[in-house]
Amino acid sequence: MSPRVWITGASSGIGAALARELRTRGARVAVSARRTELLAKVAGGDMLVQPVDVMDRVSVLVAAEKVIDVFGGIDVVVLNAGAWSRFDVTNWDADAFRRQFEVNVMGMSHGVEAVLPTMLEQGSGTIVGVASVAGYRGMPGGEAYSATKAAQINLLESLRGGLRHRGIRVQTVCPGFVRTAMTATNDFPMPFMVEPAYAARKIADGIASGKPEIVFPPQMALLMKAARFVPVGLWSWANSKLAARR
Ligand SMILES: NC(=O)c1ccc[n+]([C@@H]2O[C@H](COP(=O)([O-])OP(=O)(O)OC[C@H]3O[C@@H](n4cnc5c(N)ncnc54)[C@H](OP(=O)(O)O)[C@@H]3O)[C@@H](O)[C@H]2O)c1
Repeated sequence: MSPRVWITGASSGIGAALARELRTRGARVAVSARRTELLAKVAGGDMLVQPVDVMDRVSVLVAAEKVIDVFGGIDVVVLNAGAWSRFDVTNWDADAFRRQFEVNVMGMSHGVEAVLPTMLEQGSGTIVGVASVAGYRGMPGGEAYSATKAAQINLLESLRGGLRHRGIRVQTVCPGFVRTAMTATNDFPMPFMVEPAYAARKIADGIASGKPEIVFPPQMALLMKAARFVPVGLWSWANSKLAARR
């Protein structure tokens, strides 16, 4: 049977490319986000379109119910909806901080809550969370975004341990830089940038393999995993030099 997949944040970028990739590979796909006209374009009449605002718990519960009802269950959810904005520590913007946590962290929590009862009942399912290598270490400008990605990585890892024996798989996706609307306004260097189609292939391959962590491209994976071993003092010193140059 074709896998039944629900993707949030599928109106553009990585989510849209992944929806197309998985549909091409034979999955039944439901796409969600707020911009319905873009979702309809992605779907091309060949996917289920279900609008959602992931910040709104009820909206996510209703959307999941609709997807599960139409598909008669759910095999894979890709919690990909995300928001980024550069943070300026000299002008602390609590609203921007909260918004990124609402979309990235609470949005992911709402998605998990919405699919878990069905997956537990089925005794099967895969929860894929799109985090980022930005969650591996703190960096100036990432006080909000990187903190949400670190929270997602931890949330997903905790969940993986808790759900494995119940037949539910949890996979963490950590992309490097991908050319999307999210990176279009960045003015800092973005090494090893990849296209959304590449990201979609890597994520689809990763879902098929069942591995717990999907990190790409390889150069970025190596760099950021190595960064995790840099002592806190040295990392902070290097970052303060970087911040002082801005
Ligand atoms: N691009 C990168 O370099 C990169 C790197 C690492 C990780 N990521 C992660 O990859 C994911 C996708 O990002 P992207 O690069 O593809 O950026 P994007 O093109 O801006 O896509 C973001 C998606 O999230 C959706 N979204 C935002 N707020 C939402 C809300 N409140 N409710 C429902 N959907 C919402 C947007 O749809 P609507 O506006 O239509 O709602 C859009 O479909 C994010 O989690 C991001 O953090 C991206």
